Amino acid sequence: MSILETKDLSITFGGISALDEVSINVEPGEIVGILGPNGAGKTTLFNVISGFLKSDQGKVILDGEEIQNLFPYERVAAGLARTFQHVKLFRNLTVYENLLVAQHRHLSSGSFAAMLRLPSWRKDEKLAKDLVEKMLDTINLRPWKDARPSELSYGTTRFLELASVLSLKPKILLLDEPASGIQQREVEALGPMLKGIRDETGCAIVLIEHDMGLLFSVSERVYALDFGRLIAEGTPDEVANDDRVLESYLGRTRRDSVA
Ligand SMILES: Nc1ncnc2c1ncn2[C@@H]1O[C@H](COP(=O)(O)OP(=O)(O)OP(=O)(O)O)[C@@H](O)[C@H]1O
Ligand SMILES: [Mg+2]
Repeated sequence: MSILETKDLSITFGGISALDEVSINVEPGEIVGILGPNGAGKTTLFNVISGFLKSDQGKVILDGEEIQNLFPYERVAAGLARTFQHVKLFRNLTVYENLLVAQHRHLSSGSFAAMLRLPSWRKDEKLAKDLVEKMLDTINLRPWKDARPSELSYGTTRFLELASVLSLKPKILLLDEPASGIQQREVEALGPMLKGIRDETGCAIVLIEHDMGLLFSVSERVYALDFGRLIAEGTPDEVANDDRVLESYLGRTRRDSVA
């Protein structure tokens, strides 16, 4: 069974069709890329899936349950995470402390147990510290363990946000242009990092990305959107060589730049 499915999602803005009967599916643990020129509807698709926009028509199915009528936070609780939007970093805490706090939000023992240092809290504390230690390596944050967010590069801040979102233990993670604005060295680290996240957590990943090198190297399957419609689906190779995809990048009218 798919971990995420959309069925015929459609939405218009002032008569312009931003999504037109978009149906995608993502298998558990799969890495799926979404490709398309500026204005194709990629972010709108994420907004509808995560509940920030209500589609005019269609369904969103997470792990077999229809979620299109749930609030965004309910979708997060159901296992759907999206980066760089909800995460709150604590500016006066170190990277390590930020990650520890993020873990604690999701552990079973409450603040009462913490106050009294009950055995259940001590067990959780050990679990949280172990998970943070693992995360520091998975997301390449170990060198910045004791730094505060203000001391980090923009790219490293985004990695820290990614690590915090992973504390939600999502079943599926939506990433909207994670490479944008970060240094080439960090972009190069991103591909192996995303694969590492998937391998270690089993979490499926849907990636919108204008960096084609990254998108094609990390995705197992790719969907191409143009003018709100799916125009191709397949392996990175198939999609990169699809006539309609090439045409959508060459014969541009509604956008000002090509990825
Ligand atoms: N909240 C909104 N209100 C009105 N129009 C919107 C809204 N959100 C998106 N649109 C329009 O819907 C279309 C799709 O936009 P969207 O942001 O999804 O594109 P995108 O594929 O993410 O582009 P980019 O690659 O530039 O991020 C565009 O024409 C955009 O102007
Ligand atoms: Mg976008």
